[in-house]
Amino acid sequence: MEELMAPVAVNVADYGRMARRTLPRDVWDYIAGGAGDQLTRRANRLAFARVELRPRVLVDVSSRLTTTAMLGAEVAAPIAVAPMAYHCLVDPAGEVATARAAGAAGLATAISCFASRTMEDVAAAAAGPLWLQLYCLRDRGLVTELVRRAEAAGYRALVLTADMPVMGRRDQDVRNRFALPDDVVPVNLMAAPAGADSRSGRPSVAELTRQLVDDGMTWELLSWLRGITALPIAVKGILTGEDAALAVGLGAAAVIVSNHGGRQLDGAIAALRALPQVADRVGQSSEVYVDGGVRRGVDVLKALALGAKGVLVGRPVLWGLAAGGQAGVAEVLAILRDELDLAMGLCGCPTVESIAHASVAGL
Ligand code: FNR
Ligand code: LAC
Repeated sequence: MEELMAPVAVNVADYGRMARRTLPRDVWDYIAGGAGDQLTRRANRLAFARVELRPRVLVDVSSRLTTTAMLGAEVAAPIAVAPMAYHCLVDPAGEVATARAAGAAGLATAISCFASRTMEDVAAAAAGPLWLQLYCLRDRGLVTELVRRAEAAGYRALVLTADMPVMGRRDQDVRNRFALPDDVVPVNLMAAPAGADSRSGRPSVAELTRQLVDDGMTWELLSWLRGITALPIAVKGILTGEDAALAVGLGAAAVIVSNHGGRQLDGAIAALRALPQVADRVGQSSEVYVDGGVRRGVDVLKALALGAKGVLVGRPVLWGLAAGGQAGVAEVLAILRDELDLAMGLCGCPTVESIAHASVAGL
C-alpha cells in the first residue's frame, strides 16, 4: 500500500488527502476543523496566498543554508512541530513517532500537555529539541509538576498557550458527538478528572478541556510561571501588538502569533496578517513565531520576510503521521524543508538571515 501511495505524495496537501482516506470521519473532522463558520481557518491560508514576493536575481545561491536557532536550540530549518493534543488518535506510537521524526530531521517539537504519550517516553525517543506546551490548568500544582518533569527530561522551553480560556465550538465535533477512544488519554495529567460525554459515556474533548482548563487565567499566570522556572517561555496565541508587549514585558522569551489554526475565535485575524504588527512591536526584544496555514516551504519564507524567526506547523504533521507513521511525518517535514530551500534559491536568499523584509511586497 505504501509503495502505491509513495509516488502520489509530492506535496503536503497530498498527505492531507491520504490522511483523509485513512482516518475515521470523526477523527478527520476533529483535526481538520475550525470553529464556527471556519472563517479564520480559511483566512489563515488566504493570507499566505495574498503575499507576493519580490525576488532578487543574480545572487549567488550555490550554497544555501536553512539552519537557524529557535528558542535557544540550533535547528535544521525555521520550522517546528506545533503542539497538538492526542497524536495517538491517528497512530498508536503517537507523539513518540512524531518527535522521533522531527528530531531526526533536526527540528524542534512542541509536545501538548494533552499529549497521549508521556513526556518522558517522548524525550527518550527524540534527538531534537523539545518544548512542553502548557495550558493554565485549574490545578496549578499539576502545572508545577509538569514543569518539573519537563526540566528533568531535558525539555528546552515552555509554550504557554493563552488563547484557550474556553474551548472554541467546532460544529462538526458537536455533530459527530466526537469523543476520545478509550485508549487515547492525556497520560501526562494522571490526576485529571475523567470527563464523560453524557451521550456516549466517553470523554468528549470539549468536556475534558472545560474541566481541566482555568477560564479565570490572567497575565498573572505568566509572572507566576516565570517565577517557578528558568526555562524560556513562549506565549502562544498572541494576535495583537498590545498583548505581545505585555507578554515580553512579563519576561516571555518569545511570542507565537497564532489563532490556534482557526479552532478558537472564529472571526479572529489571520495569523500571518497579525504578524507584522507583533514583529514591529516586540521583534527587537524577543523572538516572534507564527503558525496557522503553513503548507508550503514558500509560506515559511513569506512568514520570515514579514518578521517571524520561524514557523510552527500543525495539521500537516498529523496528516503525515496518519498516512505513514513516523516516516510520514519525516516526509512531510522534508517536503517543507526542501521547498523552503528551493524558495530561498529562487528568491535570492541564500541564508535564513538574508530573508529580509524587502523580499515581500506586502499583505
Ligand atoms: C491544535 N492546537 C493546539 N495548540 C496548543 O497550544 N495546544 C494543543 O493541545 C493543541 N491541540 C491541537 C489539536 C489539533 C488536532 C490541532 C489541529 C491543533 C493548535 C496548534 O498548535 C496550531 O496553533 C495550529 O494547528 C496551527 O495551524 P495549522 O498549521 O494546523 O494550520
Ligand atoms: C484543540 C485543543 C485541544 O485545539 O487545543 O483541539
